[in-house]
Amino acid sequence: MKKILLTALAVLAAVVGSACGAGQDLAGDSAEGELVVVGMSQVGAESDWRVANSESMKAVFTEERGYRLLFEDARQKQENQITAIRRFIQQQVDYIVLMPISETGWDSVLQEAREAGIPVILVDRMVDVEDEGLYAAHIGSDFRREGQSAVDWMAEAYPDQWAPVRVVHIQGTLGSTAQLGRTAALEEAAAVHENWELLIQLDGDFTQAKAYEVMTEYLDRLPARGEIDVVYCENDNEAFGAIQALEERGYTCGRGGVDVITFDATRNALLDCMNGRISLAVECNPLLGPLVEEAIRTMESGGTPEKHRYVEERVFTQDRLTPDFVESRKY
Ligand code: AHR
Repeated sequence: MKKILLTALAVLAAVVGSACGAGQDLAGDSAEGELVVVGMSQVGAESDWRVANSESMKAVFTEERGYRLLFEDARQKQENQITAIRRFIQQQVDYIVLMPISETGWDSVLQEAREAGIPVILVDRMVDVEDEGLYAAHIGSDFRREGQSAVDWMAEAYPDQWAPVRVVHIQGTLGSTAQLGRTAALEEAAAVHENWELLIQLDGDFTQAKAYEVMTEYLDRLPARGEIDVVYCENDNEAFGAIQALEERGYTCGRGGVDVITFDATRNALLDCMNGRISLAVECNPLLGPLVEEAIRTMESGGTPEKHRYVEERVFTQDRLTPDFVESRKY
């Protein structure tokens, strides 16, 4: 494998680090003076979750710990991700880490990586490819299960099978695994519960600004004040945008008003949940850097990492939150 020679500074840092017993790092395991080169293509910085995810990666893949990280922000464009992967192949990196924006369109470029002998680790979302052998491992969330947690909560929160449950659905980036899984759960549950009415599906693209815009437009188009029971937002930033639009138009968010459901459960969303504005926050864990490193370590020592690794996630309602817990939230 191609590895880049450590700079004098990085050698010093690695030596000092191991002398101080400062955690295990790969520099200590691999041939002295070498860094493992990781090319990483991140979706962008569309949400608080995404920023936390990038920080988690950058904290793990440091020179002091034996890595050279080539981090590329695709600014929400799949073509930028494909260009970045081709650049990593030219640079002969040791590993490619890809957070794919959407599921389709990856076969050719992943084939190119395989021909170059570079293992690809998928993080967060999945790809829909003909051949599972095009990637070495996938580490992320089970988005369908997250959606299931949300609709299970709805079924309990609205036990009367005859009273209408009117739902506004703000979707995430269309075609992404997170959107597909969370949407599928809601659509399937709505098909089963005859009293659940999907009033509209809006594209919020996982951002606060877009969710605010589409929610505002929707509310302003209604001839009279809308009867809305639930706003199912596919991430926290969409929830913040939707809440702002609703509150500006006199709606109250929370139990007894409009139930806002969100995914991610970042600190600010937990704060809103603790204060009653968000009724349900389904956790989506962005702190995946250590798990990606584990997969790389396994491969560095000649092993095969788990093909699919899903992180454990919880759900939060107001009664389960305390100020100490919210304050200590890492993202
Ligand atoms: O793929 C994970 C999703 O992408 C998170 O829910 C969202 O916040 C992010 O942008």
